Amino acid sequence: MAAREIDLFAVCPAGTIERGGAKGFSLARIDGGGESRPFPIVVVRTFDNDFFGYINRCPHDGVWLNVGGGEFFSADRSFLRCGRHGAIFEIDSGYCIDGPCNGRLLEPIAITVKEGEVCLCGVKLLEDNRPSDWLEDSDETMAIAIHPD
Ligand code: FES
Repeated sequence: MAAREIDLFAVCPAGTIERGGAKGFSLARIDGGGESRPFPIVVVRTFDNDFFGYINRCPHDGVWLNVGGGEFFSADRSFLRCGRHGAIFEIDSGYCIDGPCNGRLLEPIAITVKEGEVCLCGVKLLEDNRPSDWLEDSDETMAIAIHPD
């Protein structure tokens, strides 16, 4: 495998996330020592059709927001919610407004939608031999190797 630098990396077709929905991805990135490290992310699509991306890790105790029941949202879907202790986060800022990490932030990731694909911005990937359509066959637990920024 040879490393190459790209500006955008397509994660999934934007249409696969419904308005008012979210999708988690278990990515992996390579640290400076060449070790693979978990890089869980969540991509949120608002009812107004904006997209936001965060590291899928509660700043309080580090668990995935959708731990347990697999749900990312508060009951009315207007906030992100940690499934373990119930911290509530603003969708557009990642700011925690209630819960054990009140006042702290989810870690944002840079994403954009280009040609109908949700893309990570500014990441370095490993080239490999996967077919070009492999993402479409992957489920939400797919692993993708990403070099550090
Ligand atoms: S791990 Fe989410 S509020 Fe504690």
